[in-house]
Amino acid sequence: MSDIQSLVSQQLEALLENENNTVSNLSNAAALIFQNYENINWAGFYIYNTETQVLDLGPFQGKVACMHIQPGTGVVGAAFAHKKSMMVPNVHEFTGHIACDADSNAELVIPIYKNERVYGVIDIDSPELDRFTEIDKNEVEELAQVLAQHI
Ligand code: SME
Repeated sequence: MSDIQSLVSQQLEALLENENNTVSNLSNAAALIFQNYENINWAGFYIYNTETQVLDLGPFQGKVACMHIQPGTGVVGAAFAHKKSMMVPNVHEFTGHIACDADSNAELVIPIYKNERVYGVIDIDSPELDRFTEIDKNEVEELAQVLAQHI
């Protein structure tokens, strides 16, 4: 990918070069995100299950989390259903927020597009209110584009 700008995207691209095992790649991507962003308590994936039509928990770092999320429910389900990135400064003010980890106060959810559909989402939680910035959003959108080449 020629237009990669952030260091973390370059790291992900290097990590996944010539790798095509989806579980392995999502696992290392979750670890990379968890290590690279300060003050976060959860980073991972929800993957759309085309048979059951729900989002299933994918590889992640952090505390045990909800196994299934309905499209349209919570921040994850909203980002999936509306096909758009969601940056929520205070999850307690988000109607329908799903509290998997009581430590989470802010959340960033980015759709991963693959073959013109939403494959799943990247979900990052922080204990800090208003933790995420436009720069973070742009960076994680870039990570989603890199990942889409390796899943
Ligand atoms: N809080 C999310 C659920 C997933 S956990 O944060 C890992 C939501 O409202 O969709």
